Amino acid sequence: MDKLIIKGGKKLTGEVSVSGSKNAALPIFVSTILAPGLNEIRNVPFLRDINTTIKVLESLGAVVEGNGNIVRIDTTHVNNVEATYDLVKTMRASVLVLGPLLARHGRARVSLPGGCAIGARPINLHLKGLAALGADIRLEHGYVEAKAKKLKGARINFDISTVGGTEQLMMAAALATGETVLENAAREPEIIDLAEILIKMGARIDGAGTDTVRITGVKELAPVAHDVMPDRIEAGTFMVAAAITGGDIKIRNMNLEHLDALVFKLQDAGVEITNRDNVVRVKGPRRPKAVNIKTRPYPGFPTDMQAQFMALMCVADGASVISENIFENRFMHVSELLRFGADITVEGNTATVKGVKKLSGAPVMATDLRASASLILAGLASDNTTEISRIYHLDRGYESIEKKLAGLGADIQRVKE
Ligand code: EPU
Repeated sequence: MDKLIIKGGKKLTGEVSVSGSKNAALPIFVSTILAPGLNEIRNVPFLRDINTTIKVLESLGAVVEGNGNIVRIDTTHVNNVEATYDLVKTMRASVLVLGPLLARHGRARVSLPGGCAIGARPINLHLKGLAALGADIRLEHGYVEAKAKKLKGARINFDISTVGGTEQLMMAAALATGETVLENAAREPEIIDLAEILIKMGARIDGAGTDTVRITGVKELAPVAHDVMPDRIEAGTFMVAAAITGGDIKIRNMNLEHLDALVFKLQDAGVEITNRDNVVRVKGPRRPKAVNIKTRPYPGFPTDMQAQFMALMCVADGASVISENIFENRFMHVSELLRFGADITVEGNTATVKGVKKLSGAPVMATDLRASASLILAGLASDNTTEISRIYHLDRGYESIEKKLAGLGADIQRVKE
């Protein structure tokens, strides 16, 4: 197993380029099931979750070929309708194949994902929505068994804003008869990217990115080529890296508008952010000011940036209150941040972080993807050496992060444990 060794204290400088978005690429890959033939997906990040998605598609009968950041997916012979436990348990986004398989073949058998490190994460809203489209859904032996001769459009009102649920229903409804209206739909930019590829395939979708999405089903969809949007969470992580080291960096290939909530909070903390010709410059203060955050569905502050922002608040001047409102157990990084000498107390879904002047490097363990990123950030701001083990979590969602940070002047290395 690999680990990361970081010698902290370097101010980051220079330029870095953001990769394609993991959370946009996953549903986009899955959407190719709906369009039999050769699809080409570009700006694909090299990540373990992408490899898992490829394995899922291959297990269904797709032929997948990669060349650099371009992946060609031939879905002509997707004839198997079962996604097994082995695949779904390694990556819960695999459940997104349910809707497309059901829409294309009238049946699907997909393992229930189970809980994960950040919360229970049920898929009840995906299943309720598919049932509203007329699917017969049964849970047997840990699998969702779904059948429908033909899905029929319906009005679906989500109890809570769900990114995966909105994506699942948008894909299923694309080939249903009649109109589907998704109310209280999630508005994340990744949903717009998915709608864009579906529309290119021939789907009729209006309102993606708002809380009401209208989908008029069509008979068939055709294969296309599509470029995945930049990863807003990777970009946000680099912004915090500049902020926490008092650095001055330029970030290319990012969409700053996707990060408004983070930008406002970073500015409140004293970080300077400017955007010139689509190159974003981020200049950290001598010491950040304490700022409170509450995670919310988009366009609110993203839960996927909560751990990284907490690392920044660990060295802020003053006390910051951070509440996590999306996942019930997303403070696993707290006990690891304490090992750096941070002062954090947690009560329910709220963490109070009292900033300290300096963190001191320590051996720590990654517990999930974004928690791993927060430990790297703390390591960059520490005054000596940090060792992060179990970094396979990081490889699920950050493309070559240690190389990109080293390119900005960080002293960071990957070594075999
Ligand atoms: N929820 C339900 N029932 C459902 C679906 C969701 O109760 O049927 C709950 C969840 O348990 C959670 C909340 O609704 O408490 C929001 O979950 P959502 O469905 O929006 O999350 P997701 O689609 O499972 C995606 C990202 C996550 C990101 C969340 C929130 C992908 C592959 N994953 O998950 O990304 O945190 O949206 O923005 O797109 C990450 O990249 O580190 C990550 C965890």
